Amino acid sequence: NWTTGNVIDEQVAAIRETVGDKRAICGLSGGVDSAVAAALVQKAIGSQLTCVYVDHGLMRKGETEQVEKDFVAATGVQLKVVDAEERFLKALAGVSDPEQKRKIIGREFIRVFEQAQAEIIADEGPAVEFLVQGTLYPDVVESGGGSGTANIKSHHNVGGLPEDLEFQLIEPLRKLFKDEVRMVGQELGLPEEIVHRQPFPGPGLGIRIVGEVTKERLDLLREADAIAREELTAAGLDRDIWQCPVVLLADVRSVGVQGDGRTYGHPIVLRPVSSEDAMTADWSRLPYDVLAKISTRITNEVRDVNRVVLDVTSKPPGTIEWE
Ligand code: XMP
Repeated sequence: NWTTGNVIDEQVAAIRETVGDKRAICGLSGGVDSAVAAALVQKAIGSQLTCVYVDHGLMRKGETEQVEKDFVAATGVQLKVVDAEERFLKALAGVSDPEQKRKIIGREFIRVFEQAQAEIIADEGPAVEFLVQGTLYPDVVESGGGSGTANIKSHHNVGGLPEDLEFQLIEPLRKLFKDEVRMVGQELGLPEEIVHRQPFPGPGLGIRIVGEVTKERLDLLREADAIAREELTAAGLDRDIWQCPVVLLADVRSVGVQGDGRTYGHPIVLRPVSSEDAMTADWSRLPYDVLAKISTRITNEVRDVNRVVLDVTSKPPGTIEWE
């Protein structure tokens, strides 16, 4: 019979046996899956696991601190944080095209991660032979591997490390659905904010700025996004919506009147959606008073923003993200 306790005990025993006295690496994204996978492996092998968190400077307000402090406090995990904000901003300078942005962010991410990986491997200690991934059951089915029950397979490293280096993958969540992963995370004592995190794209706020990504624009969007999240949480709506991207239209300006005079600022788009699996979605019918509060606060508190608009498009035809 299925209980989170059984799942944890089973996985901990299997991971211990597989890893033996070797070491493992796990990339943390700030999301639920990698956090729960890492916490499980940490429970099994402790300091033989090193986690890597690449801070690309495109996270939302407080998210990096959540990983650096709260996650580490809850699990005792050994964490290597790489501050790569400058590198990412430099690579993104002058780029407005969404596909270009995604490519650049993905490429830089792999380079930075592999560099960190190489440094960990070079450290004194037993060989690093395992890579932990937060693959879930739906991902397994999607990629056609549904019948296999093993949670270990090999994986060739993509570059930056010795050619013949081969990692074994540890995928302790391979048999679980998202809600089960959250239950396991809860049982492992992970912070609520991580266990119930809504989906957030890997390229982060980089694909929520329509136009070029700059530090100034990121800071502005981070403020607006933090306000929207704060008010949605205060209104008790977090579990009712699937996610709510907040988008900065950096290439658009409109006229406004704020304080004593005329302004020429940028619009912020709210994109609250309800969904089962992100394949299709509907726009959330949020209470007007909550929308009003978010709008008032964003236009009062965020410099250069003089308008807040609501996206009332379903998916299809609109995607959830704007880029
Ligand atoms: P769209 O915009 O395609 O998004 O309707 C569907 C879901 O996927 C998320 N998303 C991403 N997640 N890397 C990710 O890890 C990405 O590049 C990416 N793009 C979109 C999006 O937030 C939504 O939950």
